[in-house]
Amino acid sequence: MKLLETLKNRAKQNLQRIVLPEATELRTLKAADIAIAQGLAKIILIGDTAEIQRLAAENNLKHIPEAKIIDPQTCPQMPHYSGLLYQLRKNKGMTTEQAQVQAKDPLYLGCLMIKNGDADGELAGARNFTGDVLRPAFQIIKTLPGIKVVSGAFLMFTTATQYGHNGLLVFADCAVNPNPTAEELAGIAISTAQTARAIAGLEPRIAMLSFSTKGSAQHELVDKVVTATLLAKEMQPDLLIDGELQADAALVQSVAASKAPKSAIAGHANVLVFPDLQAANIGYKLVQRLSGAEAIGPLLQGMAAPVNDLSRGCTTDDIVSMIAITANQAISMKQ
Ligand code: ACO
Repeated sequence: MKLLETLKNRAKQNLQRIVLPEATELRTLKAADIAIAQGLAKIILIGDTAEIQRLAAENNLKHIPEAKIIDPQTCPQMPHYSGLLYQLRKNKGMTTEQAQVQAKDPLYLGCLMIKNGDADGELAGARNFTGDVLRPAFQIIKTLPGIKVVSGAFLMFTTATQYGHNGLLVFADCAVNPNPTAEELAGIAISTAQTARAIAGLEPRIAMLSFSTKGSAQHELVDKVVTATLLAKEMQPDLLIDGELQADAALVQSVAASKAPKSAIAGHANVLVFPDLQAANIGYKLVQRLSGAEAIGPLLQGMAAPVNDLSRGCTTDDIVSMIAITANQAISMKQ
């Protein structure tokens, strides 16, 4: 895929420090080996040093010795990291003793390293549940200024080249917020526009999706989408965004001409923001399975530094691609 090659080349030219807290998970370790061999990132592995070395030797992973290994049991910076965690969480009732234990959890340690400036991005989830990957990131790294919630976007590479940008569309929030408020939905639209620019290379044209187009139905669920659209425009007046729009009005020019003739977005959308997680998660999986689209993600967005969550069914190649994408997110955020 051409976009992935572009992202890999960009990652190679500006090496980022990507921390992998599930280093003793074999697909992850194999992906780390490939990422080092391809020069995609400076890899930091968190885990038991002897176990990582044993797995690398058994699987002939020749590049693993080039990675930096952080072993939570022996890392000399652990008192500093646990102190940082205590400072960040003491107002939530965390004690120093609890911080000392929790900082050794690789998923917490990876986020603490990012917070401390020792890593640029994190990738996990081949072994752990989504919530367990996200929670430490929410608690330690937190959101960007002005953004209330972290959300998850998918790059959808469809074969329907008449839609989006030659069939490429960005869908959100397919991964995190079950029922966002209007304000949260506006933030999701702004974060997704940034992902569309930084990762997909698109100039975003955002459709705020609903079961109604421009007042065709009245319901509080529609009102939420209308309010979110107005709030997003207030937050970023130059954003190309419109709503509420049904999916066909967002994508199909002939439908847009009859349902939303005054809209500059209808019929031309390349970013689809769904009203809630049920619609978005079901929507991306239907497009993926029924049309054979390739779905890359979820790309977590709105966080102050990139942390991405893998599917537990991911392949080694998926992890390599996500290392390159996480590195690109880090590069864009620094710029
Ligand atoms: N963005 C930023 N911060 C958040 C968010 C968010 N979306 N959600 C929660 N937080 C913060 C809270 O403010 C809180 O911070 P604090 O402790 O500093 O006050 C902290 O995270 C924990 O908040 P809780 O409400 O206790 O969060 P909880 O752990 O219950 O839930 C979670 C968070 C796990 C991400 C939940 O929203 C969730 O399960 N979402 C659905 C994930 C999922 O299953 N997705 C579908 C699968 S993915 C796929 O198919 C692609």
